[in-house]
Amino acid sequence: MNSLKTVLAVGAFALFSVAVTAGAADKCVECHTKISPGQVKDWSVSRHAEEGVSCDACHGDAHSSKEDYLKAVLPSEQVCQECHEEQFEQFSHGKHNFGWTSMNAIPATHLAPDELMEGGGGCGGCHNMGIKTEAQKKEQREKGYRYQNNSCDECHTRHTFSKKEALDPKACQQCHMGYDHPQWEMWSSSKHGTRYLAQQAGNLPEGAAAPKCQDCHMKDGSHNNRTAWGFLGVRLPLPEDPQWKADQITILNALAVLNPETGEPGPVYGAVAAVDLARLDKESFDKERNKMISICSECHSEAYAKERLDLGDSMFPKLDRMMADGIETVAALYKDGLITKPADYPFNYPFLLTFMETGGAEGRKDFNKLSYIDQVLLQMYMKHRMRAYQGFFHVNPDYAYWYGYAEMTKDLGEIKELAKTMRATHK
Ligand code: HEC
Ligand code: HEC
Ligand code: HEC
Ligand code: HEC
Ligand code: HEC
Ligand code: HEC
Ligand code: HEC
Ligand code: HEC
Repeated sequence: MNSLKTVLAVGAFALFSVAVTAGAADKCVECHTKISPGQVKDWSVSRHAEEGVSCDACHGDAHSSKEDYLKAVLPSEQVCQECHEEQFEQFSHGKHNFGWTSMNAIPATHLAPDELMEGGGGCGGCHNMGIKTEAQKKEQREKGYRYQNNSCDECHTRHTFSKKEALDPKACQQCHMGYDHPQWEMWSSSKHGTRYLAQQAGNLPEGAAAPKCQDCHMKDGSHNNRTAWGFLGVRLPLPEDPQWKADQITILNALAVLNPETGEPGPVYGAVAAVDLARLDKESFDKERNKMISICSECHSEAYAKERLDLGDSMFPKLDRMMADGIETVAALYKDGLITKPADYPFNYPFLLTFMETGGAEGRKDFNKLSYIDQVLLQMYMKHRMRAYQGFFHVNPDYAYWYGYAEMTKDLGEIKELAKTMRATHK
């Protein structure tokens, strides 16, 4: 935190609270000690309590009873900004700030129950990252959802708001795990994670090198996070190698980033650019890559680090050959009329961003039952291609090979077999 700002903010707060709201703050604590004692205990062991940042600093003082609790402010990130400008600024330029917007940019989001989105029970439980615009807040309120107004409590959870907790790699686990981004599983069973966990258990000297998520992704406490390849594993400019170039174009078609009929930008192109879903020029890719190499080089030789990351890059043409083969096989079924284009698909072409909705969820009777093959294709992209390259970058041989590469070859085999059967049994 900017120290002058700290002094001013805390100074102003102290004056303010002594003069006007000392009583209010005491009353909050007094009453909430009875109705939500765990919460008050959390706050009372926090730095905030130590610094005199009480309930009313974040929630205002308009509410004072059971009847008027809706008057309590549920603070947005801007409230934290008042005293933590530096972290707010960094956060606002990082990828986490796009969580909510990118979730909403995905068509599948709007086919799933709201409870999982605004309600925070599914996608929205992890994508509640990002400073919401006034329009987004309004939409949320109009749907009847009141909470999830703050991203800053995702790593240092309320009401302890602890730096130590946020520095623990477990702070990342809830979101960076599972189906399409098992970074927790990959890291914790890699040599890097093994060293960290051994050290935690007292089985390595304290000073031993053991990199955790924050060391590689939040260097020097920066709240601005981004990686070179990102999540989708596509980038511009397209590669020079003609086969890889063709395969990346096929993937971009299936993401509707490109229009498969014309080769022009497709309907998802704008979203990719707006939420920084992929690096769209060489400079922005190299910037992140070079940052990473300098981090690895704190413990490895630069040549070693560079070679490892280059090898990760050179996996993509191999993964993408399989992926494009799978997409083209399914695309041919659309073209030949064996799969009917769902009404909300942008093109008569497979569309990976429908996620698993391809089977015809309730109310989507237009779906062709045969689109099970689409689900295998989706799994190949979302689950197995992700694991293959993410596993490689996180130094996890099993994820890179058995859970990634090997499963992709299996998916491709299944897609080919399904397509053969579909053609044989058509009409
Ligand atoms: C006389 C008791 C009392 C006092 C004083 C009081 N609260 Fe509450 N507060 C409540 C009750 C009761 C609820 C509702 C709890 C529930 O829904 O289970 C509540 C709810 C809240 C909520 C949650 C609002 C929501 O939408 O879920 C916040 C935040 C809050 N209080 C903060 C404060 C702050 C800040 C103060 C002091 C300015 C304060 N409270 C003073 C009793 C009190
Ligand atoms: C540093 C800011 C900050 C302080 C200080 C603070 N809160 Fe909160 N509080 C939050 C944030 C952020 C949320 C989550 C808002 C949301 O979900 O939209 C929250 C949510 C709540 C809620 C509703 C959600 C829940 O988990 O029940 C209650 C009740 C609450 N606070 C009570 C209190 C009380 C009582 C105090 C003082 C002992 C306090 N808060 C101090 C930031 C703060
Ligand atoms: C009125 C000013 C004020 C507000 C508002 C405020 N803080 Fe703080 N916060 C402080 C002060 C003062 C400290 C102690 C000095 C420091 O670490 O910067 C602190 C410390 C912290 C720390 C470090 C705790 C540690 O373990 O060292 C975190 C994390 C934090 N605040 C998060 C938040 C979040 C998140 C919000 C919004 C929900 C918030 N703060 C709102 C004043 C504030
Ligand atoms: C367990 C937490 C979690 C759930 C549930 C979740 N996501 Fe994600 N999502 C993430 C994380 C973490 C990333 C970043 C992964 C990476 O870069 O490897 C991400 C990435 C994304 C991206 C790409 C963002 C980008 O710019 O790179 C989109 C779009 C997305 N998710 C949409 C969704 C939708 C839609 C759902 C629900 C159908 C969903 N997510 C469910 C955690 C989650
Ligand atoms: C030793 C350094 C290191 C550690 C530790 C590490 N990562 Fe990574 N991470 C990388 C590298 C290298 C990449 C790929 C960067 C690129 O695209 O050039 C990456 C990529 C990512 C991505 C983007 C998608 C992907 O997986 O390729 C996310 C999200 C991510 N890491 C999260 C995490 C989380 C969460 C942890 C802890 C559980 C973690 N990382 C631990 C080095 C690390
Ligand atoms: C992705 C996880 C994550 C999110 C989200 C996050 N933080 Fe942090 N925060 C951290 C980590 C990790 C540290 C410790 C950094 C270090 O010292 O290396 C930290 C440290 C801090 C500190 C203490 C700084 C110091 O050195 O004393 C403050 C204050 C803080 N964060 C505020 C915020 C605010 C405000 C937001 C929302 C805009 C936020 N954080 C969102 C992970 C996060
Ligand atoms: C509440 C859920 C949540 C938590 C906790 C969380 N993240 Fe994330 N993270 C996400 C989501 C969602 C995205 C994708 C954002 C988007 O849509 O662009 C993401 C993206 C990232 C990326 C960028 C990947 C890319 O595409 O370049 C990195 C790196 C990352 N997180 C690291 C971390 C680290 C390190 C921690 C722990 C200190 C952490 N995250 C904690 C949800 C979370
Ligand atoms: C904080 C120190 C540290 C950082 C940073 C770090 N590593 Fe490591 N790395 C280690 C240690 C310690 C080991 C385990 C001992 C060994 O095999 O050298 C290891 C092991 C490895 C291994 C496995 C070696 C083997 O023989 O199985 C690879 C590959 C690797 N690191 C690559 C990277 C890459 C790439 C980066 C940057 C993205 C990175 N490391 C960042 C400390 C670090």
